[in-house]
Amino acid sequence: MEAAVLHTLGKPPRFEQFPDPVAGEGEVLVKVLAAALNPSTKAVAGGGHFASSENLPAVVGLDGAGLLEDGSRVFFGGPRKPYGSFAQTTVVPVHLAWPVPEGVDDLTAAALPNPALSSWIPLEHSAKLQAGETVLVLGATGESGRLAIQIAKHLGAGRVVAAGRNQAVLDTLGELGADATVSLNGTQEEITEAFVAAGGDTGYDVILDYVWGKPTEALLAAISRKDFHLQSSGPRLLQIGESAGATIELAAGTVRSAGLTIVGGGFPPPKVFLDMFNRLLAGAAAGEIKIDTQAVPLADIEEAWQSEDKSKRLVIVP
Ligand SMILES: NC(=O)c1ccc[n+]([C@@H]2O[C@H](COP(=O)([O-])OP(=O)(O)OC[C@H]3O[C@@H](n4cnc5c(N)ncnc54)[C@H](OP(=O)(O)O)[C@@H]3O)[C@@H](O)[C@H]2O)c1
Repeated sequence: MEAAVLHTLGKPPRFEQFPDPVAGEGEVLVKVLAAALNPSTKAVAGGGHFASSENLPAVVGLDGAGLLEDGSRVFFGGPRKPYGSFAQTTVVPVHLAWPVPEGVDDLTAAALPNPALSSWIPLEHSAKLQAGETVLVLGATGESGRLAIQIAKHLGAGRVVAAGRNQAVLDTLGELGADATVSLNGTQEEITEAFVAAGGDTGYDVILDYVWGKPTEALLAAISRKDFHLQSSGPRLLQIGESAGATIELAAGTVRSAGLTIVGGGFPPPKVFLDMFNRLLAGAAAGEIKIDTQAVPLADIEEAWQSEDKSKRLVIVP
């Protein structure tokens, strides 16, 4: 079969032939329709991710949309190594393939779940978002952040504040539901002031953090300031990504004075997850949650891999 095959960690995969997978006990074969080029896919292939493997060559791609042998269309995850989703066929555990409803196109089915669930699960499962609460999306200009704005509103947030670097994208986030924006350009002091100003009278109840590093330090400086009104329950910060840095400096006083809770990861039980997944795709089918995608032929994987375009999610089509 044709596949995107990784030979060296940190180098782009190559379009070439790879042996067909054979399903074992508890597995299903999937004819891949589309698979999104997510940052996590590149991070795993880069070698620094906890899921990276030294066992090469291997097909890249962590998830996608495809057809099972009975013709049903699914979103799937967890291909068995050395197989991946950037190929004509892959093999996955039977419990990691979920039906996709009509009304959701193949590119959306492949591209939406990973970045969208990165906010949906933390908002509902970890932060237990309450109707009317204020959500800050830190890293709102990326694909996951743009979805997080829509999903926070979809799940009942009263106010959404969007923080990011790219001013041209920041200027468009009102169309997705952002009520205010914070520019991450400037000195640390300027960014802290901007977080204080955008927090208004209520502060931030839930923070979805895709960036970590210096922008998070500027935010923490804001929420620990005496003149910054804090919700009595304290803000819940959900750690999701690290686009701006892998570490932060965190003063003990910040955690205490702000009543801050920092939560990472957390996965709901399978039935709860499936309910979230179904509601997400129903929202997409209804046109309420949108992701911009661009189809790329599998043969063009090397060029797509090195693309810096963040305006839409590239989706590989075998
Ligand atoms: N844990 C999970 O399940 C999960 C799921 C999805 C994503 N993530 C992680 O979340 C992060 C963002 O994902 P994504 O899908 O939104 O990626 P993306 O579409 O590639 O966007 C990257 C984002 O990171 C921002 N960024 C990059 N470097 C930055 C810096 N030095 N300072 C501030 N912002 C910076 C970009 O801001 P500008 O465009 O404004 O420059 C943009 O908002 C990644 O680390 C990804 O691995 C985790």
